[in-house]
Amino acid sequence: MRIAEDAVGIVKGEASVIGYDFSAHPDVNLQFGEFVVAQNRNGEWVIGTIRKLQNINWLLISGKSTYQSLQLDLEQYGESIEDNEEVIASVRVLGKLNFNGERIDVLPNRVPIPNGRTVYRLSDEVLKAIYNPGEGYINVGTLLLRENVPIYLNADELVSRHFAVLAVTGAGKSNTVAVMISQIVEKLRGTVVVLDPHGDYVKLKLPDTGKKYVKIIDAKIRPEEMDSEELADLIEVAKNATIQREFLAKAWETIKYENPNLGGRELIEKLMETINDWIRNKAAIYWDEGKKDYLTEELKSDRVETLRGVVLRLRRFLRNYGGLLTSEDLISQIEPGKANVIDLGPLDEGQMKVVVGKLLQGIFEARVDYEKARKTLERIEEELRESRAAKTSKLEEEIEELKELMKSIEKKSKALAEPILMIVEEAHIFAPQGEHNDAVRVLSRIAREGRKFGVGLGIVSQRPNKLNEDVLSQTNTKIILRIVNPRDQEYVLKASEQLSNDLLADIASLGKGEAVIVGQAIALPALVKIYNFKEKGGDYGGEDIGVVSRWRKRAEEEKREEEIQQAYEDEGIEYDL
Ligand SMILES: Nc1ncnc2c1ncn2[C@@H]1O[C@H](COP(=O)(O)OP(=O)(O)O)[C@@H](O)[C@H]1O
Ligand SMILES: [Mg+2]
Repeated sequence: MRIAEDAVGIVKGEASVIGYDFSAHPDVNLQFGEFVVAQNRNGEWVIGTIRKLQNINWLLISGKSTYQSLQLDLEQYGESIEDNEEVIASVRVLGKLNFNGERIDVLPNRVPIPNGRTVYRLSDEVLKAIYNPGEGYINVGTLLLRENVPIYLNADELVSRHFAVLAVTGAGKSNTVAVMISQIVEKLRGTVVVLDPHGDYVKLKLPDTGKKYVKIIDAKIRPEEMDSEELADLIEVAKNATIQREFLAKAWETIKYENPNLGGRELIEKLMETINDWIRNKAAIYWDEGKKDYLTEELKSDRVETLRGVVLRLRRFLRNYGGLLTSEDLISQIEPGKANVIDLGPLDEGQMKVVVGKLLQGIFEARVDYEKARKTLERIEEELRESRAAKTSKLEEEIEELKELMKSIEKKSKALAEPILMIVEEAHIFAPQGEHNDAVRVLSRIAREGRKFGVGLGIVSQRPNKLNEDVLSQTNTKIILRIVNPRDQEYVLKASEQLSNDLLADIASLGKGEAVIVGQAIALPALVKIYNFKEKGGDYGGEDIGVVSRWRKRAEEEKREEEIQQAYEDEGIEYDL
């Protein structure tokens, strides 16, 4: 394999194991970020990237700095000025090459590069072998400075150790996610669930298969799975309105007890009826689950007023969101091998949190139960095979129970019987720093334990420093597009093991769709140009809306209208819409 391309310079000055400077060949055109290679003292090939390019002219440097004196120098030295121009490149060492058949690994370099060594441009072949595609890799783009070197990410690592996509709005997060989804679903036939608060993926169409493997699921609220506190949040009873919450809890427990098979909107209507009865009778007759009996509480007029407040909220909730109530289970709509987009668009943020918390919890718990049952079953079967256990009727019963449990989970959705990747757009809504809701709790839990149970997490956000630190730092692979806010940058730096200060410096100057990728899923940190999903034949819903073109379109319509009107008027016909 060819390692080096053309010679680009000669090493000089202080060189260490992590970096060196070289004087550039006067005829070569070097770019910031270019990959170079040189041999260290042991003759090992050491690769690095150019982190700084400086021009120095040795004739013009010697102390005379006024404009006039420089002008005199220019006249005096004439053409020899250019020959004294030097470009000094500073290189950060990435590591030494270790050849391993078709593959190349990059190992830590322990020996400096001697002065005088030739520096070469690194060949595309070596870069391709480093960022090589293996079994289960997805292709998301190319090296920014080498468009013929494709970049692959290891899907096992992405899913089992989680990832984050971070950048300012419009930098290309959703495009990146769409590219990743298409590869995971079309190439690996994996299952992805996308939580989509702003309708970014409702028009998702994959490049090769269109909508065949896309399922859009309308987020709905299932009141029967809520406890009374969640219900209170949902209908916007203030957190400190303890009396309202207390009576809501009593009424909720009562109607759930009385109507075990009721769900959706009907359950909320029943709840309203019950509270209205209490108001009318000036007495609350409620079921006490602890005492297993009905209790009665006389209501004074201020209590009646409190209850009216609750009814008012329920009525408003039904009016605004009644259409979102369902008794259908969201999780059972998720299909394996598809991009399942949960459209949260119609909900407000508070409701989104409740719905997402429930959904994530349901999926995670089902996966935990399933994997535990599967492992126990495997263990028992092995013990039986190796005659370490006797096939007693008790054991058979246990086997039967485990199989039943697994079957019941599969019946809900086949997707729950396999690893699943959850992608959370606008993750700062669900996992904000310093807030403790159900969604944060389950997201932290997935981030910490998801790996054991095959639940992967991808979080997407334009407000990294508003994200729960626990969740963010548990995401191993970071795909960072343009971030300008220094506080966001620092926060990201703190949460990423492999992000160095100099990579961080790149992040503010990235263009659209350009990303720094670090973490276990990529062979070596890289500056990557993410594919344009549309150019690849895909589509999604959340592109920029095209402000000027929309205004222009309307203005053109107006103009056409005026022209028609004018034409009528010229003919002397009255024109009226
Ligand atoms: N890799 C890319 N190549 C070309 N255009 C891109 C790329 N990524 C994003 N864009 C364009 O930039 C715009 C914003 O991208 P989007 O992914 O929706 O941003 P974000 O989700 O970060 O707000 C879109 O119109 C998209 O077409
Ligand atoms: Mg987006």
